[in-house]
Amino acid sequence: MKSFSIVVKKKIKDFKKTITVDGCKSTSIRYFATAAQAYGTSTAKGIPSSDDVLATIRAFKKLGVKIIKKKKIYYCYGNGLGSLQTKNNLSINCSNSGTLARLLMGILSTYPHKIKIIGDHTLNKRDMKRVIKPLEKFGATFEPKNKKNLPLFITGSEMPMPINHVESIGSGQVKGLITYAALDTPGLTQIIEKKPSRNHQEILLKFVGAGVKVKKFKNYNLISIKGQKDFKAFDLSIPGDISSAAFFICLTLLSKNSTIKIKNVGLNSTRTGIITILKKMNAQIKITNIKTICGEKVGNIIVKSSNLKSTNCPASLIPFAIDEMPIIFLCAAKAKGVSSFVELGELEKKESRRLSLMNKILNQIGIRTLLKDDSIKIYGNPKLTLKNKPYKIKTMYDHRLCMCGVVLGLIFGGKVIVEDCHSITTSFPSFLKIMNSLGAVTKYEIKKNH
Ligand code: S3P
Repeated sequence: MKSFSIVVKKKIKDFKKTITVDGCKSTSIRYFATAAQAYGTSTAKGIPSSDDVLATIRAFKKLGVKIIKKKKIYYCYGNGLGSLQTKNNLSINCSNSGTLARLLMGILSTYPHKIKIIGDHTLNKRDMKRVIKPLEKFGATFEPKNKKNLPLFITGSEMPMPINHVESIGSGQVKGLITYAALDTPGLTQIIEKKPSRNHQEILLKFVGAGVKVKKFKNYNLISIKGQKDFKAFDLSIPGDISSAAFFICLTLLSKNSTIKIKNVGLNSTRTGIITILKKMNAQIKITNIKTICGEKVGNIIVKSSNLKSTNCPASLIPFAIDEMPIIFLCAAKAKGVSSFVELGELEKKESRRLSLMNKILNQIGIRTLLKDDSIKIYGNPKLTLKNKPYKIKTMYDHRLCMCGVVLGLIFGGKVIVEDCHSITTSFPSFLKIMNSLGAVTKYEIKKNH
């Protein structure tokens, strides 16, 4: 793919707009992964054309699932649990998607064929120990032995065994891959969820009638999965992704005299950590028109420009805002006072080392920070404007850092060159189009010899 930079030439002028953002990536990937194992034809509207979702469609097609798109609706023809067409040495490319790779390995752990899972240069660097450990307990094997990253060969078990797992990372992907492995494993698998994370998969599997139950206790959730319970096809409506809305929420808060209404956004409480954190920082955010659609809370988000103040962010909120932390750091950079964020170790394991890189970016534009192990203090400066020189923002091909870089330029002014922005299509292909509709002045610069 051709790599390009986005050049932001000046601050954005005030705007008052209503927008919608692309559909939720997490739920879309799980739509295909679940519908492929249901009986009959499932439908979904609101699926984004993001690269991660397109990679998911390709992966399930390769596993023999018929998927078609007609008038913006995706039809997925499932044949029940255990019906994927696997064979030895089949190779599946998960591109940039950690969610796809991990959830798919969960599903394949009950198929007795040796399948190669590969990713792009970023995904190939990410940790798969968190996948291998629980799936080995189900009976799956991985090769090469002791390798902890992709490419990997997974051979599922012919006679998988149910497991008990304590989830203490706070990872929706780990919880999700175990849940998928358990769907076609006879017996009862139990996950003790000590550190809660996003729960789209539990909601979806309950919605479709799979054998999943969640019981809430004082210090943990108990997720029980009764294996080999078939479920029927279903119709899903996917709301806007709050992780994509986040860039427009923060842009509006940090701009002057502006208002935005973002319609039909998913407001699942395990994803709205960003709203809780920003409200503690004095953000003017209102939620209207709340509904429940397919078991998920959905509504409109209305945001007004605000004078933000610093925060001491509780660690328990981090998993509920895990993908939004970079843009929240940018808000802290423009807030009055010193903000502090702790227990951020998981940020270093994303598409890039997001904590270290954001720290560098903030320092580069003149914001003082104190980075220590997995925590950061950000010394906000509401008056900061950039000098009259070009600022090159290195993103390491991380889509969320690219979008953060663009917002940074639009807020602080100056000439900001955000590198390797082709990765934005990983999650949010409409990002620039929407940004430009608000009046952002940007231009592309194609990088040569990539
Ligand atoms: C995701 C979970 C999160 C998130 C990722 C998508 C999911 O990762 O960062 O973008 O869909 O389950 P972890 O579960 O590893 O925290």
